[in-house]
Amino acid sequence: MAKTKTAYFCNSCGYESPKWVGRCPGCGEWNTMVEETVSVAKGSSKSKRGLLDSDARPLALSAIEALEEPRVHMPSEELNRVLGGGLVAGSLTLLGGEPGIGKSTLLLQNILSIRGKKILYISGEESATQLKLRADRIGKVADNTFILCETDLDRIFAQIKNVAPAMLVVDSIQTIYSPDIESAPGSVSQVRECAARLLRYAKQSGVPVILVGHINKDGAIAGPKVLEHIVDTVLQFEGDRQYLYRLLRAIKNRFGSTSEIGIYEMADRGLREVKNPSEMLLSQNREEEMSGIAIGVTMEGVRPFLVEVQALVSSAAYGTPQRSVTGFDQRRLNMLLAVLEKRARFKLAQKDVFLNIAGGLKVADPALDMAVVAAIMSSNFDVTLPPRVVMAGEVGLSGEIRTAARIDRRVAEAQKLGFETIFIPKGNLKGAGQSDFDIRIVEVSKVDELFRHLFA
Ligand code: TYD
Ligand code: MG
Repeated sequence: MAKTKTAYFCNSCGYESPKWVGRCPGCGEWNTMVEETVSVAKGSSKSKRGLLDSDARPLALSAIEALEEPRVHMPSEELNRVLGGGLVAGSLTLLGGEPGIGKSTLLLQNILSIRGKKILYISGEESATQLKLRADRIGKVADNTFILCETDLDRIFAQIKNVAPAMLVVDSIQTIYSPDIESAPGSVSQVRECAARLLRYAKQSGVPVILVGHINKDGAIAGPKVLEHIVDTVLQFEGDRQYLYRLLRAIKNRFGSTSEIGIYEMADRGLREVKNPSEMLLSQNREEEMSGIAIGVTMEGVRPFLVEVQALVSSAAYGTPQRSVTGFDQRRLNMLLAVLEKRARFKLAQKDVFLNIAGGLKVADPALDMAVVAAIMSSNFDVTLPPRVVMAGEVGLSGEIRTAARIDRRVAEAQKLGFETIFIPKGNLKGAGQSDFDIRIVEVSKVDELFRHLFA
């Protein structure tokens, strides 16, 4: 007879505690402990095993042959780039994202275009007919793709033995369960055990495994942030569902950089790769110029692109002015408003300020600061900015314009898209100068200097 006991697990880091505590001792998060049954079945010690059990001996690092990891080239170039050049053999990749963002579509679309490799797609969420209907919509179905609708991990492994796939997709890890563990699918212990067994399979067989994981509202991969430690690569698929753009970024990558992003657009026949993000974001036909709009050059990884910053400044109707932000950090906005108030002597304390990054993007690049302050001032004075002007630069606490990373790429991007003037921080271009570019470059060192240029 299996003896059952319960334990408490942290939803955020997987910390195990025999009794409930308000604050997780492992990661310090509050209210993350959930009760789960753990069965201690006799003879089953699976959950006690290490992640990579093998009879390993210590080896001198110099004696280890460093072979270039073989990679499976994925059909989507954006996906390849984010992975660092393809899917590494024997790697475990987690694709996270909110429900309905397009994770299944992305994977299905990719595996449907791979030829000559057996691929097993485990679905715990959709029926085989549902998947077939979707597959017909987004691609040509080849006979090397196998679908298995199953959630019992033991039976999944039995089928893996039968099929012997060259690539395995599990959609999603939260629906899969191991019968050795009594708690419900999606619980911390289940997710951890299933992921650990799939990891062992990947390492032993050399088959790349992709797990789909749902993200809860806080942005953590549901329950198990634990998964992030186990897997080799964590990809996140994000975007606003009201908009069509989707960003794919690597949060962790043992085989490549985490600075690359992939950009997709959801169309009626699946996801379409977006090669020119700036054109997509600035495509709106803007005949008449409006106040409160500025265009900044931001970097996502090593790719520059232009985004439109929209601001609305109006007199506060109630005592406390509102500050509302979409796509930008609220605290950063407050900081910039304080800088404008104190260093540039603009009275904004009694004004409501609304800020929006067009296109549903979230931007964390500090070099967008200049465009943010320009948009705010433009709305405040109700004066439009000069046409075909962009800017890139961080605003410091004393109102100084600080240098931005990779400024030459930003200038080149603005030039490519036909802009006439770019405002950049003073001295940022180092060796290069105006003669290297066709676009007019204006160097500024303070916010007031920027305003003098823009609103004189
Ligand atoms: P899906 O891949 O099921 O999301 P996830 O697996 O992340 O939960 O994608 C769901 C959304 O994508 C769905 O709401 C409809 C939309 N969609 C399209 O707009 N076009 C398409 O061709 C497909 C397949 C889906
Ligand atoms: Mg799905």
